[in-house]
Amino acid sequence: MTLKDKHIVLGVTGSIAAYKAASLARLLIKAGAEVQIVITPSGKEFITPVTLSALTGKPVVSEFFTANDGTWHSHVDLGQWADLMLIAPATAATVGKMANGIADNMLITTYLSMKAPVMVAPAMDLDMFAHPSTARNLDLLRSYGNIIIEPAAGELASHLIGKGRMEEPEKILSVVEDFFRKQESLSKKKILITAGPTFEKIDPVRFIGNYSSGKMGFALAEECARRGAEVTLIAGPVSMKINHPNITRIDVESAEEMYNASMKAFPDMNTAILCAAVADFRPSRQYTEKVKRGEDILNIDLVPNKDIAASLGKIKKSNQRLIGFALETNDEQTNALKKIVKKNLDYIVLNSLNDPGAGFKYDTNKISILNRNGEKKDYALKSKQEVASDIIDETVG
Ligand code: PMT
Repeated sequence: MTLKDKHIVLGVTGSIAAYKAASLARLLIKAGAEVQIVITPSGKEFITPVTLSALTGKPVVSEFFTANDGTWHSHVDLGQWADLMLIAPATAATVGKMANGIADNMLITTYLSMKAPVMVAPAMDLDMFAHPSTARNLDLLRSYGNIIIEPAAGELASHLIGKGRMEEPEKILSVVEDFFRKQESLSKKKILITAGPTFEKIDPVRFIGNYSSGKMGFALAEECARRGAEVTLIAGPVSMKINHPNITRIDVESAEEMYNASMKAFPDMNTAILCAAVADFRPSRQYTEKVKRGEDILNIDLVPNKDIAASLGKIKKSNQRLIGFALETNDEQTNALKKIVKKNLDYIVLNSLNDPGAGFKYDTNKISILNRNGEKKDYALKSKQEVASDIIDETVG
């Protein structure tokens, strides 16, 4: 019984895939979970509450009050009761309401009151899924720490073929089982993560920087925290937000500041994952006033920054693990292996700018993980959340 005693709120919305919610509820219950279904008014157009309550053994919640006796259904109580809220299927409308806090039905008020982690399995037509508005709303949900179970590609209810079909109940069950299995796997571990770029000042208005958005590092921080680790996240200048009680965020700007914060934090850590794109050079002098345009060439001399990874590699103890990244444009594997040795890393995560959808800014990444023996594991292009999970499975455990 992989889900024994787990309380799951299963949210059902108005999609043709609502029929799959019946099998999903049954699978969750067979795995040992107690399931409470909350359905939207349009969800009831696709599957009857009678079917669902017969499967779960509990009345389905849909309205704030039961009309005949005035019983109040408390979304706040559901938020406290659940170990997980799973919204499957989630329509574009529900995803949009969740992203923007539009609490006009019982499901959304339950979502906003939820204390437990939330998983969302979208289901919609391919063009709706591909619309920038849906993509932005799903990004917002990810930034709230919600886990998106990506829809599958195939024939849709419209008979069009593409991505938008809710994942099969068996696959969703395995995601849920995996989630609970890993939930406490890193408890008592202290993990340091660096993320984002560094900015090296030229004058009060200009800097040398790079394109790192922080998405990969923040996804790692979130996944470690979700698995119970105490995370120290040292972030360069990024616009990302993060919200988890296990994460302590330290914001820095320059490589020097990131070096100081990392060196201070590392002795107390079990593991460090260095995902930041640290500037290798900084201007040898910083102008105190804005440099004015002239006719002459302006030369800026650059001096090397300290190598944070190599410095941590030097002070690393035998019970500490150090994981670096390598962002390469050529001779990827050779360069990554050189970095493992030079910086005394235990693993290096290689991503190449030659792979479409990999590296800076994207929501996706394509990686290989190399160990000190030169053994290499290649992964497919995945969301940065999934990539983070793969990295932690392989390097931290
Ligand atoms: O932030 P995103 O937009 O999501 O993009 C993610 C990413 C592309 C930034 C990330 O996946 C990544 O590859 N990060 C490492 C980028 C990099 O600087 O690689 P590098 O090959 O130059 O450095 C090798 C390793 O040394 C890295 O672990 C780096 O953090 C570390 N380093 C580098 C220079 C330095 N002065 N100090 C360091 O610690």
